Amino acid sequence: MKHNKKFILKCENCHYEVQDFKEWFGSMQKCPKCGHKIVYAEYSRDINDVISLIKEEHSKAKNVFHYFDFLPLYNAENVITAGEGVIPVERWEFLEKFAKKYYNKDIEVVAYRNDLNPGTGTFKDVAAAITASVLKENDIKEYCVASTGNIANAFSHYLAKAGISLTVFIPDDALKANEAEVSTYGQRVVRVKGDYNKAKEVAAAYSEKYKILMSGGNTDAMRVEGKKTMVYEWLRQMNKMPDVYIQALSGGTGPIAIDKAIEEMKGSEIEVKLPRFIMVQADQCAPMRMAWDDAKSKEFPEGWEHKYPVLESPVTKVPTLANGNPKTYPIIGSLTKKSNGEIIDFNEELITEVSKLVAYNEHIQVGPASSIAIGGFFESLHKGFLNDGECVMINVGEGVRR
Ligand SMILES: Cc1ncc(COP(=O)(O)O)c(C=O)c1O
Ligand SMILES: [Zn+2]
Repeated sequence: MKHNKKFILKCENCHYEVQDFKEWFGSMQKCPKCGHKIVYAEYSRDINDVISLIKEEHSKAKNVFHYFDFLPLYNAENVITAGEGVIPVERWEFLEKFAKKYYNKDIEVVAYRNDLNPGTGTFKDVAAAITASVLKENDIKEYCVASTGNIANAFSHYLAKAGISLTVFIPDDALKANEAEVSTYGQRVVRVKGDYNKAKEVAAAYSEKYKILMSGGNTDAMRVEGKKTMVYEWLRQMNKMPDVYIQALSGGTGPIAIDKAIEEMKGSEIEVKLPRFIMVQADQCAPMRMAWDDAKSKEFPEGWEHKYPVLESPVTKVPTLANGNPKTYPIIGSLTKKSNGEIIDFNEELITEVSKLVAYNEHIQVGPASSIAIGGFFESLHKGFLNDGECVMINVGEGVRR
């Protein structure tokens, strides 16, 4: 159903139409009718209008707000940007040669260079840009978030730009580099004694007590809307979708956002197919991979998506991805299955080798979470998950600043 507003926020559970972010924030980000915490943005504009944006030449696309018409913001004056989102999709021939030499497969490999995002150099910059802009538009002055690291940096940077003060709750094992960076933006960082789960609990209690809005995590509409633009960017730069999308997996905002973008295009002139999701966890914190393997071995019995292990204080070399309690597994597991994809893991002991290999071949230095995704490419070849003639996109999520 169309409405006369630019967008509404629809409750995922009862389909109640939240009129705008004022109403959503006013109800502390819960559906006023049923209390559900997930809404998705629905636009009144015809999705076919995105085609002219996707056909735009490169010099005209300056940042994620190139797609302003399909972002949940009314006034361009509220835009907070550092030039994020318009990042290169690069051909990585050394991986193509590897696939040919060792597996005799002709595969086109492209890297999506989030390390080149000018904000904080991670996959989190687009989400932070949209969040900061929407919060500004709605006169929010204080915000809080629990983060394994990169969201902390990205939100700190972008919210500072918007004049919004932020408190970030990070787990015990978050990298010192993340903590230091948050402080340089003048934001507050609280290192919680415990894992990411504990950090989320403490943040939620803080939010509740002081009535300060807290980021809604992987399903937060502002984050999802930001990240969905990556589909538009791939179409703009490649004029096609990849057949396979490989990403390091923590909570899974990436696949949620890709699915949202593609669902919105259904029935339009640019209807595209969902890529196969190959989600990669670090092997020392891989609860979704464990749940997936178990479900797969039993041929996905009724209710499989609700069965997953919870790991207490996982010890991993990749704290940015360390999420021991994968509450989004019901969503991510289902999306992965819908895409005919896989959830796998990669041996953390090998991340340095992977980053050296990339440095040698591409002359760039990628961070640990990126190495997990790139490692996932090798693992996928090994397991026979990639086919001859396919285009495989690897999300390079962060640079070496980590
Ligand atoms: C560099 C990088 N890649 C991937 C991820 C995983 O993102 P998500 O699982 O939320 O899509 C994160 C964050 O957790 C990250 O910082
Ligand atoms: Zn509802």
